[in-house]
Amino acid sequence: MPTTELLSHARKDAEWWRSSVIYQIYPRSFADGNGDGMGDLPGVTGRLKSLADLGVDALWFSPFFTSPQKDAGYDVADYKNIDSRFGTLADFDSLVAKAKTLGLRIIVDLVPNHSSDQHVWFQAALKAAPGSKERARYIFRDGKGANGELPPNNWESVFGGSTWTRITEADGTLGQWYLHIFDTSQPDFNWQNEEVRAEFDSVLRFWLDRGAAGFRIDVAHGMIKADGLPDIIQNSTTMSGQDSPDAVKTEETQEELIRRLQIENPFWGQEGVHEINRRFRSILDEYDDRVMCGEAWVHPLSRMASYVKPGEYHQTFNFGYLETPWNKEKLQDVVTESLNAFGAVGAPSTWVLSNHDVIRHATRMGYDQVPKQGDGIGPKYAQPDEAKGQRRARAASAFMLGLPGGAYIYQGEELGLPEHTTLEDKYREDPTFFRTNGERVGRDGCRVPLPWEAGANESNGFSTTGASWLPQPPSYKRYARSEQEGVAGSTLELYKRLLKERKAFDMGNGEFRWAPEFMNENTLAYINNGILVLANFSGDPVVIPAGDLLVTTQHDLRLEGELEHDQVVWVKL
Ligand code: GLC
Repeated sequence: MPTTELLSHARKDAEWWRSSVIYQIYPRSFADGNGDGMGDLPGVTGRLKSLADLGVDALWFSPFFTSPQKDAGYDVADYKNIDSRFGTLADFDSLVAKAKTLGLRIIVDLVPNHSSDQHVWFQAALKAAPGSKERARYIFRDGKGANGELPPNNWESVFGGSTWTRITEADGTLGQWYLHIFDTSQPDFNWQNEEVRAEFDSVLRFWLDRGAAGFRIDVAHGMIKADGLPDIIQNSTTMSGQDSPDAVKTEETQEELIRRLQIENPFWGQEGVHEINRRFRSILDEYDDRVMCGEAWVHPLSRMASYVKPGEYHQTFNFGYLETPWNKEKLQDVVTESLNAFGAVGAPSTWVLSNHDVIRHATRMGYDQVPKQGDGIGPKYAQPDEAKGQRRARAASAFMLGLPGGAYIYQGEELGLPEHTTLEDKYREDPTFFRTNGERVGRDGCRVPLPWEAGANESNGFSTTGASWLPQPPSYKRYARSEQEGVAGSTLELYKRLLKERKAFDMGNGEFRWAPEFMNENTLAYINNGILVLANFSGDPVVIPAGDLLVTTQHDLRLEGELEHDQVVWVKL
């Protein structure tokens, strides 16, 4: 039986981000305002009302900066400008202004680990000599072997292949190698170099001065590499360096575990990143009310919590939660672990199920053998069980949105959008696909443009012309917003209801405890600010406890009064 002790205490007048629901916009795929098939900022501004109606508090935008788009914008050539595909700085200003009138904050994606190879600094580094100050902004090294023909170490890129690329020097000879944890087009900065740090101080201020509410910080756990760039003990192509959160379940003390992982993974989770966290934070603290959330993909959660200690990040994405399957015991463990770990450092936990790097949860939850993070599902793979995925995803979202802390929603999950699992290879853009010769299909399947008006055109209203940089699967017509708006029982209306009740009962700042008095061996129950959230994981229906039924994830009148399998209810006791 779980403990009934309070795992989170009610907070009155807490800062906004402690309980916020933040909606992730993937600019390429949200809404296309100019009909070229690529989403853009005016497209978003034109559709902002729908997000205010959904009931979210802030919008995090994946990168829209000037970029050759080799990694969908996570390869930035100019950190202080908007790519013409997405609009202009004036469009950004209009977006912020309109969002403000709707009570929505705008969060910008900062990509400090690496730039694009088209960045002026990298172009200058290529032209400059080994040992120059231009090279010192990145990580250049001589190769191994008699003629420097071997890479400096054995690190493997997250996208496949080596993390090293050899350059041709200005005089035409084969020369040094540069490090890129991701694609060849994404050289890693040298964060030991004060010039790099100072440059980013100014990038942060640039967006904060322009009205950004803060940042999502890309690859927050990767900016510092172990001294001497030693060989890695075991390569993993996942963002955490671990194939699953369970891989770090161990008998060691926390210190022993962290030290071991820092040695085993010399480019993830090194101690020096905390100094950078503090530097970023001190800049945010010059402004009112700004926030930063780190993509610090480290396990276990107690280690992740060290990124949100006082003076560092406000939030981190709870990837331990994201990677937990729809399973009673595992969910209970990860929630308890999260509230304890983050609570111990005075930070809120966040909760997240989907983003632009993972298989959408409506598909993941209808799939038995979920591929490793970043790998995707292709047309030749076993295909998911759509109905099971839908049912579980709705339940999982309802379970998540009742928890205290901050929550993240990835665009389209409020429509129950599944992953595009039959995308033809000819459309793929993710560098993972190309760097592994198609062995890993990559992340395009979760990045498909959103369907707005069913049947309006070929992209279901994503663009005015029907153009779409990735084609939608046929099912997206059924999932279009127009098919769900105002329709009782639709996933969209479910999300609206969840967000409304979450706010009405201030559950984001709530007093949370497990509620064993409402559980049996197949159900999980918690109470947050007087609202009972009850989930049934089995085939045996259970009676819904007395009280006001605020939310139910399935509308099946035949079964009224009973909680069926993979279903969640919220009841005001
Ligand atoms: C982060 C982003 C991902 C990107 C990578 C490299 O993990 O979320 O999309 O490919 O960093 O910038």
